[in-house]
Amino acid sequence: MCGIIGYTGTRSVLPILLEGLSTLEYRGYDSAGVAVHQNGLQTVKSKGRLALLEEKLQARAHLEAATCGIGHTRWATHGEPSDQNSHPHGTDRLALVHNGIIENYLEIAAFLVEQGYTFSSQTDTESAAKLLDYHYAKSGDPQEAIFKTLAMLRGSYALGICFADYPERIYAVRKDNPLIVAKTPTGALIASDVPAVLAHTNTYWRPEEGVLAVLEKDAVRFFKSSGEEVSQKQECVDWNVAQAQKGGFPHFMLKEIHEEPTAISQTASAYMKDGLPHFNLELLDTDRLKEFRAIHIVACGTAMHAGLIGKSVIEQLCRVPVSVEIASEFRYRDPILHEQDLVILLSQSGETADTLAALRHAKANGVHTLAIVNVIGSTVAREADSVLYTLAGPEIAVASTKAYSVQCTLLYLLALRLGLVNGKLSAQTVREICEKLRVQVPAAVEEVLKSCDKVRAAAEKVVDAEHMFYIGRGVDCALCTEASLKLKEISYIHSEAYAAGELKHGTISLVVDGTPVVALSTVSSVAEKMLSGIREVASRGAKILCVTTKQISEQYDLPADIHLVLPEIDELLAPFPAICVMQLLAYYVSALKGLDVDKPRNLAKSVTVE
Ligand code: G6P
Repeated sequence: MCGIIGYTGTRSVLPILLEGLSTLEYRGYDSAGVAVHQNGLQTVKSKGRLALLEEKLQARAHLEAATCGIGHTRWATHGEPSDQNSHPHGTDRLALVHNGIIENYLEIAAFLVEQGYTFSSQTDTESAAKLLDYHYAKSGDPQEAIFKTLAMLRGSYALGICFADYPERIYAVRKDNPLIVAKTPTGALIASDVPAVLAHTNTYWRPEEGVLAVLEKDAVRFFKSSGEEVSQKQECVDWNVAQAQKGGFPHFMLKEIHEEPTAISQTASAYMKDGLPHFNLELLDTDRLKEFRAIHIVACGTAMHAGLIGKSVIEQLCRVPVSVEIASEFRYRDPILHEQDLVILLSQSGETADTLAALRHAKANGVHTLAIVNVIGSTVAREADSVLYTLAGPEIAVASTKAYSVQCTLLYLLALRLGLVNGKLSAQTVREICEKLRVQVPAAVEEVLKSCDKVRAAAEKVVDAEHMFYIGRGVDCALCTEASLKLKEISYIHSEAYAAGELKHGTISLVVDGTPVVALSTVSSVAEKMLSGIREVASRGAKILCVTTKQISEQYDLPADIHLVLPEIDELLAPFPAICVMQLLAYYVSALKGLDVDKPRNLAKSVTVE
């Protein structure tokens, strides 16, 4: 999704804006632009990659002296990717960058046309920029003009604004969209995401909704619409720049897969005390946990798939019913919620618009909400009744990998805690599984990573496929949904995940000679049934790639063209090394095809619009 950066201070602004935008590239974009103060506001925009914007800027060498400006990477929603639709938008008086969607932009545009304004883009943002110009022309007061504009906007926004009359100042405000403000020794910054400021500082403010930040080189101040100055809480991340860089790996995705052992062990250790799961959540003490009648896990994309693993493990260990819901459906379908239910919101970014709306819906229905989120202080984390942070560090590649693994880790811990408090599991059993989660799982994932070459060799055998299938039973079926998504997202190979027993009820008609079928078998109780499913597709000419536990590989004679055996691990925990294999497979297929692994077409890392 779009990215915002802005700087005012003593340093040359363009390198800071370009570096910030490049750090935000991972969010997904199709055009970029900047506006800087240099004898009035100078705006330069370009469709396509940042390199094209940089080329245009090279021809404007005099802008190097500028020390205040804003920049934007745009992920098209209203209007195609083009120079004209790129941000900043504005007039001679002001420049504005925007993330989010202004829902009533046509209404506003119609009003402005009556006032004599004309429009040169198809964007919703231009309406906001020109509405601001309208109010500013009347009052000459930036603050008043901004609040008058906000009062007329419907939708979501993070805005960064420069006024030509105030060459050293940036204004920023947000609603339902992430935005941070930071002070550095040489000035002040705004950004849509933490990695964009990490090169300068790791402390920042996330202004409350509707609170206007006013940045000058020596000070950052915050104002309410009443004009009252307010203070905002400063936050701090312990991420550093190196974590947000590739560190010698060809792609962020491969680096992040390699970070899984550490991320899992850190997350597991952080929520254990005396060898047992321990969350220290005021509102979710033992008594409260015992009360829950049902759990709803609500999320989008990969996080939703982690929820499917959570469902499998919670139901297996605690016998508490769990439903997993796509957030965009949950929010509108009026789900049946009971006050003794728990709603878990899973999100890497904590800013996904649909997940946030689902959280608000659950809260409005009086249900306890628990956020499992990776980004500290993100909106979902702030609004949920309780929050548990996954400790994955920054995830930059659009295709989520380590965030999924740590979401699963926390869901396992939650299952163990629930099983303990509702008497389904003994302390001894829970302690043993916890120890394995903390030690055996990272070690097993590490072992998979040591045998990357085998996965790469398997990828070579399927790289030319047009269609692929993933089949599994039980928890493997849930894992296959994520494995298939990973492949689709970054390799553009169409694939489907199917319950192995369901294939013959439809999709097997698509399996022809040479169609790759990835068969995942880690659940011993259904391994024999899986074997039948594998034989069914093998006899139709499928190219079989089996991924199995050691035990299953020894027990059954699998008709596999390629066979990857997982490191030895307690069967309950096999999903961790298994997903690592699947992520690597998708990664290598994409890399072998020479695709842009970290920034797949049309996708965005953080989807902050509906
Ligand atoms: C986007 C990303 C996915 C991610 C999903 C949910 O679609 O491309 O990788 O899984 O959003 O994001 P969240 O930040 O809520 O986990």
